Amino acid sequence: MKMSLKRFSVLFATALCTLPVAAGTASDEKMDEFIDDLMSKMTIEEKVGQITLVTYDRSFMTGETQSKGVAKKITEGRIGGVFNVRTLEDKINIQKLAVEQSRLGIPLMFGLDVIHGYRTIWPVPLALSCSWDMDLIERTASAAADEATSEGIDWTFSPMVDIVRDPRWGRVAESSGEDPYLGSRIAEAMVRGYQGEDLASPQSMMACVKHFALYGAGEGGRDYDMVDMSPNRMYQDFLPPYKAAVDAGAGSVMSSFNDVNGVPATANKWLLTDVLRGEWGFDGFTVSDYTSVGELTEHGLGTLAEVSARALKAGLDMDMVSEGIAGNLEYCLEKGLVSEADIDIACRRILEAKYKLGLFENPYLRLSEEPVDREKYRALALEAARKSIVLLKNGNDILPLAKDTRVALVGPLADTRWELMGTWAGAAAMADEGVSIKSGISRYTSSLVHTVGAPITDNPGLARMIGVNIERSGDPDSLIAEAVSAAEKSDVVVAVLGENAKMSGESSSMTWIGLQPTQRRLLEALVATGKDVVLVLLNGRPMTLEWENEHCAAIVDAWAPGLQGGNAVADVLFGEYNPSGRLTMTFPRNVGQVPIYYSMKSTGRPHIPFRKYRTGYIDCPIEPLYPFGYGLSYSKVEYTGMTAEYDSDASVIRASVSVRNTSDRSVSETVQCYVGDIVASVTRPVKELKGFRKVELAPGESETVEFSIPADDLGFWTPDMKYVVESGEFNVEIGPDSQNTLSAKVFCDRSSVCPAKILE
Ligand code: NOJ
Repeated sequence: MKMSLKRFSVLFATALCTLPVAAGTASDEKMDEFIDDLMSKMTIEEKVGQITLVTYDRSFMTGETQSKGVAKKITEGRIGGVFNVRTLEDKINIQKLAVEQSRLGIPLMFGLDVIHGYRTIWPVPLALSCSWDMDLIERTASAAADEATSEGIDWTFSPMVDIVRDPRWGRVAESSGEDPYLGSRIAEAMVRGYQGEDLASPQSMMACVKHFALYGAGEGGRDYDMVDMSPNRMYQDFLPPYKAAVDAGAGSVMSSFNDVNGVPATANKWLLTDVLRGEWGFDGFTVSDYTSVGELTEHGLGTLAEVSARALKAGLDMDMVSEGIAGNLEYCLEKGLVSEADIDIACRRILEAKYKLGLFENPYLRLSEEPVDREKYRALALEAARKSIVLLKNGNDILPLAKDTRVALVGPLADTRWELMGTWAGAAAMADEGVSIKSGISRYTSSLVHTVGAPITDNPGLARMIGVNIERSGDPDSLIAEAVSAAEKSDVVVAVLGENAKMSGESSSMTWIGLQPTQRRLLEALVATGKDVVLVLLNGRPMTLEWENEHCAAIVDAWAPGLQGGNAVADVLFGEYNPSGRLTMTFPRNVGQVPIYYSMKSTGRPHIPFRKYRTGYIDCPIEPLYPFGYGLSYSKVEYTGMTAEYDSDASVIRASVSVRNTSDRSVSETVQCYVGDIVASVTRPVKELKGFRKVELAPGESETVEFSIPADDLGFWTPDMKYVVESGEFNVEIGPDSQNTLSAKVFCDRSSVCPAKILE
């Protein structure tokens, strides 16, 4: 393969001989010159070609439309990028068509959804966010880039930074949860990891921040649904992670499917131009989501020609799959819907991206690398999976288990490798190299009996959607009887239950987010044996677990932990790894509490349990089952001696707390700092995360953990959309989660900085 690649490079050099070959790292001026020259040679059809992105492989489709006649269009210079090309050979051949057979030989850009790993699969993003470990997250993104670029990927449709407060939405699995501060730090880490120091390096790929914007706030948790939100809430809670990713240098931004206050994001000029470019200074390119340009017709905005023109004019540069302008160019020009100047703007941005990616220098830059050794990132996959697991309950310190405990391992997810990969693991093709929970546990005990116990579901519609064959699942009563008999002969039951990989992810919204009734019946039967039941949960979303929390001895949330998931779960169960993950989404008690998140406002009638005329419910507490930031370990960490003061010279709140590991096990503790604005000119959340630190504590060790919170981070958006930081009293809280905190009040005098404040 290598030899033929060299040949392609030579051929490419010949094909491009009419164009000056530019260096990917050259100055903007050099890039402008190069692109000016190139564009002066392009026909309008070729320019439209650059803004046209098509799909290739049917097996990766995320919509109903499939691009047609791709090869011919490439040779005619009518395509700018291709995604979902599975093999390296295919990519090479396709690139060859573009550089050797199209008139100007402009290289294609290859995209793919590299979401949580490429060949080596990490835990799903929601899980990984529970590590609160930015260095780890950056390393996983960088490793994914290393693997993906070695197989020809220039561009990943990641990170997804949508804030989500509704676990019914299936795509919460792809998110970093509910919090804008944490979400922003993760967004930055991922962009850094993917893009590296130099985008033109063969190991770097361009990030694509998605889905701009507010895709996580669809009504009813339904995928693709409408969003209606005040600008204040947008700017305060939902937009910060997109901005953080843009500030970190993300090269591209994907528009979302949903509408935003009546205008679909894909044609929303306010979002794509005024906010993104005007306010944030974004200078990369925008791309639609899969057929979201065409879908503007379903939104009721006009014909394909009209909506495509509207999207382009709104600031959408590249059209994914709809080929809206490409298929209607003549009409659009004739009717004056678009001008060549509109097309030029978008075309230039795509060419700039290719230039920055080093593709003009060498179109085979990422097509001529040695594929990364499959072993290279195994250890990282294990580290990521271990750090993502959240211990939700550990009654009577039943965990960790002693080696050689007699384990009855029960559940339809206990002996699977594939389901541990979660959503978007399509390109992995390495599930067969994954580690099931059964095989992980067998490293610790030879006394292990596995029974399936129950089908994942008996809901026929759901079963069809998630690829489960109910008929082949076996007789439910016999399955339970077999599991109960195994439980009775064991010291402990480990029940691996929850969601299979297809139950979360795109187009997987659910109204029931508890265990499926089939699984719950099994769990009830296991609990009834009187044996301790450890529930290991596989899930892509927060689930409702009130009954389970009451009746199971321990609950370990393993999410979809990826390639090394089975080993990581076993390491936690048997104490080889002390669990350290912390929730990044609130777990409701029941679905009626949704939407639910920790940074709520107090309201004029703050909650008092079961009191009339107060905010809350009359049939259920307002508090969640497990709050944001929550997670246990096998150690005890004491928080004492909190201090907080305002340093007016530096304009920062300095806060500290002493944490001490009082156990005989080393622990990794995530210390979280929240701030609440006690009195302000607008209503404010009771608290918001403003900092966190992970500290490693040896047995008996203590450490003073310090936070320095810029006063500028304590502001808010006024009703007339100005960001202000007012003087006044703030409540600073530090603790192991969002509810269990120490607190201190601080007065921030901002009079010199913000004279327009209300409180002085
Ligand atoms: C649709 C999804 O919404 C988006 O996240 C993804 O990147 C595209 N399909 C491409 O596969």
